[in-house]
Amino acid sequence: MQKDKIYAQPKSPIDDFRFDDDIANVFEDMVQRSIPGYNLLLQNIGVITKKYAAPKTNLYDLGCSLGAGTFQLADHSPKDCIIIGIDNSEAMVKKCRANLKKMEHRQKIDIRLGNIESSAIKNSSVVLMNWTLQFVEPNAREGLIEKIYGSLNEGGVLVLSEKISMHDQEQETIFFNLHERFKQENGYSLLEIDQKRKAIEQVLKTETEEKHLQRLKRRGFKNIYKFFQDFNFASFLAIK
Ligand SMILES: C[S@@+](CC[C@H](N)C(=O)[O-])C[C@H]1O[C@@H](n2cnc3c(N)ncnc32)[C@H](O)[C@@H]1O
Repeated sequence: MQKDKIYAQPKSPIDDFRFDDDIANVFEDMVQRSIPGYNLLLQNIGVITKKYAAPKTNLYDLGCSLGAGTFQLADHSPKDCIIIGIDNSEAMVKKCRANLKKMEHRQKIDIRLGNIESSAIKNSSVVLMNWTLQFVEPNAREGLIEKIYGSLNEGGVLVLSEKISMHDQEQETIFFNLHERFKQENGYSLLEIDQKRKAIEQVLKTETEEKHLQRLKRRGFKNIYKFFQDFNFASFLAIK
């Protein structure tokens, strides 16, 4: 695993964060050192997939990056499921396909280069969207959730993981500081943390838990549960 040193030296100007080759090369290390609970969530994606993946359906990983979630779908589903990962970063898709070649799998796994907002999604029983909706323009989020809901068979699930903002300002500050401390404990310097925040703040737009829950409800999901939270990173299970 290549170590993330992207923001280790002073940068001027600090360009907006993009999922390009440089990021794709260090992405595995970056997410593990930046997203609290990342590995535990992946493990539980396996548990959820085992329970909800139905035979002869499609399982989607929207914003699949290097395929960490995609491979959990493959490892825990019936062999006649089709696994589809979609990402609009060429660098990510290239590396994801290379990762796929190295692993054994029984199902058809299709890694597609494309925008999840315009991609067809159909006949699904499990849809993952981990740490991706936050990069979609806020005014396009409603339509995307509606499309996912429409693609799910009865009893199918959406797993949505997002960095969330807090309604309460005091909690926002406390969780912000704890997340900064988490990254320091994982070896990032204050310079790295500060430069990455400046790079990402224009492209990663967080919403509150309430906003996510309301949208999922509005779009038709009947049972919606937050099943995991670590500081300001939360995962929701929405069942059709
Ligand atoms: C933080 S990463 C997701 C991490 C991944 N789901 C995981 O669990 O390892 C966000 C990914 O979403 C992709 N992405 C962002 N907006 C997208 C869009 N509109 N369509 C397709 N992919 C998108 C990015 O290229 C990036 O690879």
